[in-house]
Amino acid sequence: MDSQASTCHVVAVPYPGRGHINPMMNLCKILASQAPHIVITFVLTEEWLGLVGSDQKPSNISFATIPNVLPSEQVRAQHFPEFLEAVFTKMEASVDEVLHRLHPPPTLIMADAFLNIPVALFFPTAASNFSFFYHLQLLEQNGHLPENLSEKGDEMVDYIPGIPPTRLTDLVGGRSEQMMQRLRSMVDWVHRTQYLLLSSVYEIESQAVDALKPSLSFPIYTVGPSIPYSKLKDNPRSNSDLDYITKWLDRQPGSSVLYVSLGSFLSISSSKMDEIAAGLRNSNARFLWVARDEASRLKELLPEGDLGIVVPWCDQLRALTHPSVGGFWTHCGWNSIQEGVYAGLPFLAYPIAMDQGHNCKIIVDDWKVGWRVGKGDIAGLVHKFMNLGDSESIELRRRAKDLRELCRHAIGLDGSSRTNICTFIRDISSGVGNIQDIN
Ligand SMILES: *[C@@H]1O[C@H](CO)[C@@H](O)[C@H](O)[C@H]1NC(C)=O
Ligand SMILES: *[C@@H]1O[C@H](CO)[C@@H](O)[C@H](O)[C@H]1NC(C)=O
Ligand SMILES: *[C@@H]1O[C@H](CO)[C@@H](O)[C@H](O)[C@H]1NC(C)=O
Repeated sequence: MDSQASTCHVVAVPYPGRGHINPMMNLCKILASQAPHIVITFVLTEEWLGLVGSDQKPSNISFATIPNVLPSEQVRAQHFPEFLEAVFTKMEASVDEVLHRLHPPPTLIMADAFLNIPVALFFPTAASNFSFFYHLQLLEQNGHLPENLSEKGDEMVDYIPGIPPTRLTDLVGGRSEQMMQRLRSMVDWVHRTQYLLLSSVYEIESQAVDALKPSLSFPIYTVGPSIPYSKLKDNPRSNSDLDYITKWLDRQPGSSVLYVSLGSFLSISSSKMDEIAAGLRNSNARFLWVARDEASRLKELLPEGDLGIVVPWCDQLRALTHPSVGGFWTHCGWNSIQEGVYAGLPFLAYPIAMDQGHNCKIIVDDWKVGWRVGKGDIAGLVHKFMNLGDSESIELRRRAKDLRELCRHAIGLDGSSRTNICTFIRDISSGVGNIQDIN
């Protein structure tokens, strides 16, 4: 067998958003490091190539570009429905073009499930979120549609396989009917897939995964957490840009710092930001707040002192795994949750939209490793949460450590994710040549 014939050329097509590109890239890095016969082409829009094109990656992964789906994607968050629509209607043709010009010819397309391109689907959110989409019909049959939310939001939904009884509101999030329609079409494509990769750890969502398996006609592999943990080993100290944060963390007592981040996509109103800022200040807890565009404004409200710092950006996983960090205030994006679990931290859950509401429920009600930030007293909540002597806080921390062990075990030798990645590589390598089946 010559090397050309035995090479497996995977074309990875993430949905153009941070929460999708990052986990897909992390998975690609794992695949490339585990199997030298795999080469990967990673397809990005021009905008995203500009944002992540200079990040380090192995030589077996190269980028291919497609035009932006909207003239200016800076407006993604404000015009989310239009953006989603453009992704669904315009991306496929550009991706098709890329597929035709690649050498060696692709042997497998690994696409984000949100893109409606068949073959190997990568699902970047929780397994229970996949189950939700896969069983949308059941919601329809029970009259539990987004447009029925206002009258029925408090009804319990107890018929989705693998998802414990959950209030309709927590299940559906704030989807509009038009978007729901789009997402629904995703489910039809799922039936045409050959492999399903879930960005989750079997042991932390076994109920959802086990319930899915019997109803799927294709193999399903939990391969998470799809986070850059291997980078921590390669380079235990960060580069100079981050030294300011690391040095500050080095000076804080163990587990004393609350890491605060509301994600990078959706934003909340300035008045809510101010409320959080006041709460942090009055809690007397130490904090590291990663606030992107809001950082300079927040610095005025929270002048640098011994208790806290506000920064625009930070290497999140590195900071979360720093011994001084003892808690994670998160918007409940799935990637962030996986990083927090990997770091063994308890959570203060502050969901904003999309799957975040249900992720919050998983953290608080199922895993019991976090508290919801409600409408009440933020300062009191943060103070109790970060109080290492508080009995309820101690319980949270203990369970968070247990969850960390499950997660670390999954990526170790013989762990579930590691084994699934090897099985996936074996399966796609023996299936070389099935690209012709797509069209
Ligand atoms: C991938 O990279 C490794 C080392 O960087 C190399 O040994 C291997 O031959 C490469 N694989 C292919 C298919 O090019
Ligand atoms: C759900 O909402 C739709 C549209 O408002 C309405 O026609 C329908 O009767 C509602 N279904 C139930 C079961 O309430
Ligand atoms: C799944 O994700 C969709 C889209 O983000 C969201 O609207 C929905 O609430 C999520 N459901 C669950 C159960 O995670």
